[in-house]
Amino acid sequence: MLKSCCIYSTGLLSILVLIAGIALVLSHVFPTALNNRIKNEVVLENGTEAYAVWQDPPAPVYMQFYFFNLTNPGEMLKGERPAVMEVGPYTYREYRPMENVTFMENGTKVAAVNPKTYVFEPNMSRGSEDDLIRTVNIPAVTVMEMYKDSMFAWAIADLMTGFNVELFVTRTVGELLWGYEDILLKELKKLKPSLDPYFGLFYKMNTTDDGEYVFFTGKQDYRDFARIDQWRGNSSLDWWNTPECNMINGTNGASFHPIISKTERLYMFSSDLCRSIYATFESELSVMGIPAYRFVPPSEVFANKTVNPDNAGFCVGNYCLSSGLLNVSVCKQGAPIIMSSPHFYQADDMFAQDVIGMHPNKEEHQTAIDINPLTGMVVQAAKRLQVNVFVEKLSAFTLTGNVRTLVYPVMYLNESVLIDADSAKKLGAVVQEANVVINIPFMVIGLGVLLGVVFMLLLCCLRTPQSTAAERQPLLES
Ligand SMILES: *[C@@H]1O[C@H](CO)[C@@H](O)[C@H](O)[C@H]1NC(C)=O
Ligand SMILES: *[C@@H]1O[C@H](CO)[C@@H](O)[C@H](O)[C@H]1NC(C)=O
Ligand SMILES: *[C@@H]1O[C@H](CO)[C@@H](O)[C@H](O)[C@H]1NC(C)=O
Ligand SMILES: *[C@@H]1O[C@H](CO)[C@@H](O)[C@H](O)[C@H]1NC(C)=O
Ligand SMILES: *[C@@H]1O[C@H](CO)[C@@H](O)[C@H](O)[C@H]1NC(C)=O
Ligand SMILES: *[C@@H]1O[C@H](CO)[C@@H](O)[C@H](O)[C@H]1NC(C)=O
Ligand SMILES: *[C@@H]1O[C@H](CO)[C@@H](O)[C@H](O)[C@H]1NC(C)=O
Ligand SMILES: *[C@@H]1O[C@H](CO)[C@@H](O)[C@H](O)[C@H]1NC(C)=O
Repeated sequence: MLKSCCIYSTGLLSILVLIAGIALVLSHVFPTALNNRIKNEVVLENGTEAYAVWQDPPAPVYMQFYFFNLTNPGEMLKGERPAVMEVGPYTYREYRPMENVTFMENGTKVAAVNPKTYVFEPNMSRGSEDDLIRTVNIPAVTVMEMYKDSMFAWAIADLMTGFNVELFVTRTVGELLWGYEDILLKELKKLKPSLDPYFGLFYKMNTTDDGEYVFFTGKQDYRDFARIDQWRGNSSLDWWNTPECNMINGTNGASFHPIISKTERLYMFSSDLCRSIYATFESELSVMGIPAYRFVPPSEVFANKTVNPDNAGFCVGNYCLSSGLLNVSVCKQGAPIIMSSPHFYQADDMFAQDVIGMHPNKEEHQTAIDINPLTGMVVQAAKRLQVNVFVEKLSAFTLTGNVRTLVYPVMYLNESVLIDADSAKKLGAVVQEANVVINIPFMVIGLGVLLGVVFMLLLCCLRTPQSTAAERQPLLES
């Protein structure tokens, strides 16, 4: 009597546990609890860990520059294809703390500036900042493009001849990046005092910020965590950051963006491109043992008339600047600068074919951002961009010789970050814990099934003694 009572309670318990398990699965209690916990943690509030990471990112960010050294300037002037040799990397460690942090609107938004400091890393570089690079004279090309149709073109041309300005310059890596006094700009400054006689691809970028950003803290909606609300370009008139280049939308480089799904469009803001670009899911991978989704910008993200109206109407030969290139002239003070992926990866083939030495490949030249889908934390990222200059023969300027119309590659950069070991360990623990928590309802169901099996076995055992006795009888008789 007691025995069968025990057995039937096991059966009942099994059914109850099964129901509970199924209810837990259907009600999403555990995933919701987990999300709530993550929600509470990913908010920018003085004192939270997320705030500490956002304010002073622990993972080292490296900026690597690769230059294209022109080997045949004479032939290029005669109209032949330029032949370039890639040199580098010239690697800089980037320090990028948030400063002047001010919370606004009841803690739903936070304003800050993000100055970047670049420190040369000789051990991670091939070559030094004193290496000489021969490339196109960007200030000269800019001035010529500006005045090509002007009535002063001849005067500018005379000035250039007088000062021996050539289509090419040979300068050190340090000068090309951080600035040098350009003879032509210095002379033009006499006519236009507001002009800055210095030129450099990253001139005035060291230790300076690119204006105030306003971020969402995630307090109102955790999905907005660290998303950029506004960016006001500073009014300094350097070549690379001007107020016209207002950002539209986007998340900042290395931050959280909780609960990422494969269908998500990830908006990333890039002040180099003067706009936000987006990336879409590409593949699943594991970074330092942490599961991640890789997002990459789809090929149409660059220069497509809808995305960038400035590209409309720009054609080289039969091809229009429609695939893989971005005319950023407007936000580079009129300099004929065109951005692309390194080696014209994903751009029209003709651009790579116009320059000897271009070898585009996906692994090395794509921009990619790897995000842990559970927490939305960026575990690895590489932003890769190439700076090109548009050159063409201009009849008003003899120094352009017979140069063919082309998009000339000056250099490309790879700005990358990999999660630091300490954060990886913490994140790994969170992922592990989440896996366990998510699986609790299934474990409960498993327990129910197990109890059911035990119940069946017990039921059989209870019956067996009688049946075996009944069956053995005839056996014993024969
Ligand atoms: C954060 O709190 C610390 C100490 O409580 C204080 O010194 C600091 O100014 C606060 N920061 C902000 C941005 O409010
Ligand atoms: C801040 O909170 C107070 C009280 O909750 C409210 O009256 C006020 O409108 C809020 N201000 C903003 C800018 O949201
Ligand atoms: C940038 O500024 C920092 C601090 O002033 C300095 O240590 C560093 O060498 C500078 N980097 C470059 C490339 O000039
Ligand atoms: C680039 O080319 C110039 C001119 O040929 C040469 O002097 C220089 O050493 C080259 N730079 C590098 C880094 O190879
Ligand atoms: C801004 O981002 C949101 C998602 O965060 C997106 O829905 C919207 O289309 C974006 N707007 C622009 C102009 O890119
Ligand atoms: C331009 O991009 C938009 C949105 O990204 C897309 O819908 C459209 O098809 C693209 N147009 C061309 C010509 O590729
Ligand atoms: C780039 O855009 C500017 C204006 O936005 C235009 O004047 C210039 O011709 C364009 N460059 C090329 C190479 O098409
Ligand atoms: C950056 O990208 C280049 C190629 O584009 C690659 O050679 C280099 O290893 C990358 N750097 C890092 C730190 O991943």
